[in-house]
Amino acid sequence: MITNPFDLTGKKIVITGASSGLGRQCAITINFLGGFVFLIGRNLERLQETANLLDNDRYLIIEADITDYDRTTDQLEKVLGESKIDGLIHAAGVSTTLPLRNITPQKLHSFFETNVYAGINITKLLTKTKFANPEGMSVVFIASVMGVVGELGKTIYSLTKGALVSGTKSLALELASKKIRVNCISPGVVLTPMTTKAVYTQNEEAYNLVKSLHPLGFGMPEDVANACAFLLSRGGEWITGTNLIVDGGYTAK
Ligand SMILES: NC(=O)c1ccc[n+]([C@@H]2O[C@H](COP(=O)([O-])OP(=O)(O)OC[C@H]3O[C@@H](n4cnc5c(N)ncnc54)[C@H](OP(=O)(O)O)[C@@H]3O)[C@@H](O)[C@H]2O)c1
Repeated sequence: MITNPFDLTGKKIVITGASSGLGRQCAITINFLGGFVFLIGRNLERLQETANLLDNDRYLIIEADITDYDRTTDQLEKVLGESKIDGLIHAAGVSTTLPLRNITPQKLHSFFETNVYAGINITKLLTKTKFANPEGMSVVFIASVMGVVGELGKTIYSLTKGALVSGTKSLALELASKKIRVNCISPGVVLTPMTTKAVYTQNEEAYNLVKSLHPLGFGMPEDVANACAFLLSRGGEWITGTNLIVDGGYTAK
């Protein structure tokens, strides 16, 4: 019998960054496909806005600063209880544009804390035998095309996203025997609150230039959420250790 390979009915998926942009759309898409979503973010009001966009009660809100590693671990352990987890999307992230002369070890550390360390901390917890569904689990890190190609002023951001791209491969090898797949997605520019705050958005000429670098134009959050749903689903069950580029052609040149 053929069943829908992209169906996520009953799958329990933990999502960081669920209060905004890509994480919020991942929550909506996964919930629409039948999944139960654990929504993580710091801003309770915006997490509730995400929940209000779902037309059912297949969600739980977890208000947490994921760079407070021990507290986040404690909170997740309490909320998840005996649940078996089918997937994690680490969509929380911070971006900056800084020339080398303004980079300090402290700034580097603070971007790594959210983009990389927090994602690894939660992955470590959820992939424990206690939580990982023994029938299979899928971890998706949201990296960026800036982890693969460069841009002026993007050194710190690129360093963090490149770490996710390369770490994904080793984690995939380490966790394959537990039927846990690990992949990352590298988006080009997608229209989210992060993009609204970007330097190039403040200047029409710069904005149009960045847009022109994407042959298919800027992306929408759905473009990334659909790719995430695929990697979480049975449809992606032979895919691990890869970096799925979702960039409207940005890196094709
Ligand atoms: N938009 C793009 O063009 C684009 C392109 C490539 C890659 N990405 C990546 O995609 C991911 C999502 O980006 P976005 O555009 O959706 O950004 P966004 O709209 O600014 O959302 C960022 C999310 O990260 C969460 N977050 C940040 N720091 C956190 C912390 N310490 N603890 C808990 N949550 C935290 C925020 O939650 P709170 O505000 O509730 O704390 C928010 O939900 C990021 O990793 C970004 O680097 C984005």
